[in-house]
Amino acid sequence: MITKKTALDNLYKKYSQCFSCPLGGLGRKNIVFGSGNIDCIIMLIGEGPGKQEDEQGIPFVGRSGQLLTKLLSIAGINRNALFIANIVKCRPPENRKPAYEEISVCTKLILFEQIKIIKPKIICTLGSTALEGLLNKKIKITQERGTIQKWNEYIVVPTFHPAYILRNPQETQKCIDDFILIEKISESFL
Ligand code: URA
Repeated sequence: MITKKTALDNLYKKYSQCFSCPLGGLGRKNIVFGSGNIDCIIMLIGEGPGKQEDEQGIPFVGRSGQLLTKLLSIAGINRNALFIANIVKCRPPENRKPAYEEISVCTKLILFEQIKIIKPKIICTLGSTALEGLLNKKIKITQERGTIQKWNEYIVVPTFHPAYILRNPQETQKCIDDFILIEKISESFL
């Protein structure tokens, strides 16, 4: 039996120079594989790397990431306890939404494998692209956020993307409420 760490290291090495979808050839600097606690109860899934994430190779280090860390902490969640990844691992040019094909290839090759290795109890998707990429169907995030869903053996709780909260600060409390719900559910796994 190989350890989770070895399995994730192997997965990272396999795709560290990935050109399996168009994003590989569109100017990415780094693959943003994901980072955090591989023994987490909660795994967060965002959309895709932005400029700073692409430069540093780490998810959610820019403005959205700072807000994310703050909202999690208000809800009593320490970001370091989580594993954070994205639907696509390479930055889409101009921060455009990743295309269906890019999402489909990247989730199958990397994200779904990461989830299988990490085996979190709860998956929290941030924004509509993350939930759509996970479930492979169109959704309305305003309807889905804060609901408790099931995907394979995982509990899924969608919330808004922090970039959406930056543009719509009046929705901040809803996002905090969703993180509080996630924190409450996670207590049952301690
Ligand atoms: N937005 C995302 O969806 N993911 C990141 O890593 C950064 C910003």
